[in-house]
Amino acid sequence: MKITRFYLSIIALPAILNCTAQKKVAPLLPVLKDVFWNDFSVGTALSALQIEGRDHKADSLVKKQFNVLTPENSMKSMFLQPEWGKFDFRIGDRLTDYAAKNNMQVVGHTLIWHSQLPAYAQTIRSKDSLQAFFNNHIRTVAAHYDKKVLGWDVVNEALNEDGTMRPSIFQRLLGDDFVTEAFRLAQEASPNSELYYNDYNNEQPAKRAGAIRLIKKIQGAGVRIDGVGIQGHWHIGKVPFDDIEKSILEYSALGIKVMFTELDIEVLPRNFTGAEVNQRMRNTNDTALNPYTAGLPDSVQKQLADDYAQLFRLFLKHRDKISRITFWGVNDGQSWLNGWPVPGRTNYPLLFDRNYQPKPAYYAVIATKQQ
Ligand code: XIL
Repeated sequence: MKITRFYLSIIALPAILNCTAQKKVAPLLPVLKDVFWNDFSVGTALSALQIEGRDHKADSLVKKQFNVLTPENSMKSMFLQPEWGKFDFRIGDRLTDYAAKNNMQVVGHTLIWHSQLPAYAQTIRSKDSLQAFFNNHIRTVAAHYDKKVLGWDVVNEALNEDGTMRPSIFQRLLGDDFVTEAFRLAQEASPNSELYYNDYNNEQPAKRAGAIRLIKKIQGAGVRIDGVGIQGHWHIGKVPFDDIEKSILEYSALGIKVMFTELDIEVLPRNFTGAEVNQRMRNTNDTALNPYTAGLPDSVQKQLADDYAQLFRLFLKHRDKISRITFWGVNDGQSWLNGWPVPGRTNYPLLFDRNYQPKPAYYAVIATKQQ
């Protein structure tokens, strides 16, 4: 059935592109997961509201377009273990049930991350207490979702920009080996899940070198690591294509899968790169920081489409090394970039607009298969 849909999409593509140019309603929309079926899976992040089925428009779009789902927040430790030793799997279970019913996969995000920790864990000061939290969290969560998730972002964001270890609570109390240990515990508790290291800016040379050292260290300890996630929070006109290509090549040379796990291309001004969720911009009342409240100008819309197209051409060139592309949100209205690093902005980083309609970037991405 999927294959049939794929061919229908391709055959119908010229007509669809033509209709869009004339601003008519497209009779048949090609779908991402089918167009890229032979290349990589195509995913999206779902908010808790969407997982709970309270965003009906998103629901039909998700079922149609994507074949792998990441919970945007619901499987982070602050939600899964809100009180010490008390786990709340309700929303996560809803997601895995929904995915199973709809023939989709789930990527667990994330077992060990210094951000969005439960409040009690943030105040831990002793090595023994943190070790107890660390062991119990990984063992319980990974075991609960074994056979229900495709893979886990086992550790998220363990590195500084220069490739050294980030002095997170885990690094400070447990030492640099906490990353290898997290993978070891995850492998024991969830032998059927793939295990990934995930970070932002890890396509940049110094951070990439650090990630490669980290991955080699895990491998050298005889512990399994199946893939590396490059988050892919990039900026319009500044997508680092060369570094992305080098990263695909260098990471896959380690014998692991490469995936783009949180893709979005931001169009609003920003004075730093990356995606450190605790970082904020100053002067947030400056209206120049929020220039497109009335809509995205055609020139920016076009540049966004061009950037996405160039990116997907690169992804297709290396389709044998890339297992998954996941967008960080279903549509522009949901994107976290409306609230970060400046609250209350109107951002346009994804392929679907606030009305859940495909944007020029969407058609540009689909068209890369025809070039
Ligand atoms: C973001 C979510 O999208 C927001 O809703 C939340 O408030 C903060 O976290 N890198 C990650 C993701 O690994 O978990 C982050 O998600 C974005 C940056």
